[in-house]
Amino acid sequence: MKAIVYTKYGGPEVLQIKEIKKPSPKDDEVLIKVYAVSINDWDDGLLHGDFINRLLNGLQKPKKQILGSDIAGRIEAVGKNVSRFKTGDEVYGDLSGKWGGFAEYTCAREKALALKPASMSFEEAAAIPQAAMLAVQGLIDKGKIQPGQKLLINGAGGGVGTFGIQIAKLYGAEVTGVDSTGKLDMLRSMGFDHVIDYTKEDFTKNGNCYDLILDVKTNRSMFDYARALYRNGVYVTVGGSIGRLFQALLLGSWIPMFSKKHIRIVALKPNKDLAYMNELFEAGKIKPVIDGPYKLDEVPEAFRIFGKGEHKGKLVITM
Ligand SMILES: NC(=O)c1ccc[n+]([C@@H]2O[C@H](COP(=O)([O-])OP(=O)(O)OC[C@H]3O[C@@H](n4cnc5c(N)ncnc54)[C@H](OP(=O)(O)O)[C@@H]3O)[C@@H](O)[C@H]2O)c1
Repeated sequence: MKAIVYTKYGGPEVLQIKEIKKPSPKDDEVLIKVYAVSINDWDDGLLHGDFINRLLNGLQKPKKQILGSDIAGRIEAVGKNVSRFKTGDEVYGDLSGKWGGFAEYTCAREKALALKPASMSFEEAAAIPQAAMLAVQGLIDKGKIQPGQKLLINGAGGGVGTFGIQIAKLYGAEVTGVDSTGKLDMLRSMGFDHVIDYTKEDFTKNGNCYDLILDVKTNRSMFDYARALYRNGVYVTVGGSIGRLFQALLLGSWIPMFSKKHIRIVALKPNKDLAYMNELFEAGKIKPVIDGPYKLDEVPEAFRIFGKGEHKGKLVITM
């Protein structure tokens, strides 16, 4: 089978398309013919091999050499202990920890998968897992979003933000999106009530306040974020600068004592809310925003686009 393989850390140029042996499922795994896979920030981190990702995937060189976690495809074979799925089922899910999605076939444990609704395309399914889970777990589980709240999404035009706006609108929130100049029209067309161009304006310094902030970039001090919150407001980070995340961890329990403002961090629970996403999708309440699709041999180019932040919504690859 064809797969995109990397044997050393680096930029998109280290990704190579190779012919390799088709994998076989273990007893608790299924073999999936992959139809679509999307790129996540985590794939980019694993490709470049920053310190944290080297701890996960090998200090000198990558142990797991095929990236790609968010896949959608059809089950071709099942291990003898698999009970939830059968050959022919159309499934999708986040395989992070195992990865292997940039390939024509991959193996996955059944707990990493959900059945794909027939009305959902493989491209749409591959766009959902990580970004939508972060949006749901950030806004609902950690943010406790309430009807009519004023919400700001920082880094609004990527995967998490484009799911976040759709979830927030189900709660009737008034939503501000922050991103770069070229993405503001898309944000308006998606229903953001207000947009801010971060290259021209700092939302923590313009005097506006919010009940809830969902941040995918976390590039400012926690004190700046607290200033942009109303009393009892909640700041939720899903990721960003390691230094700032560490600050969020340290100050998360102190800031509320003095200011009645809350700092929370999302630790992704992969695939937890896929059934909820299926429900929303089938009810016409959610639609993934797809950039692409690109072909498997275009994965290095797709990573270049992702690395420059030029994508809108989710960058999807089809086989
Ligand atoms: N908590 C967990 O367990 C967990 C697990 C997996 C991933 N994550 C995190 O989840 C996040 C993934 O978010 P995503 O999928 O939405 O990423 P994404 O698709 O890359 O979107 C990020 C958006 O932010 C914009 N942006 C860049 N710099 C910005 C700035 N200074 N201010 C405001 N916006 C800016 C980018 O556009 P431009 O480049 O055009 O500006 C892009 O539209 C990452 O932070 C990742 O580390 C967390």
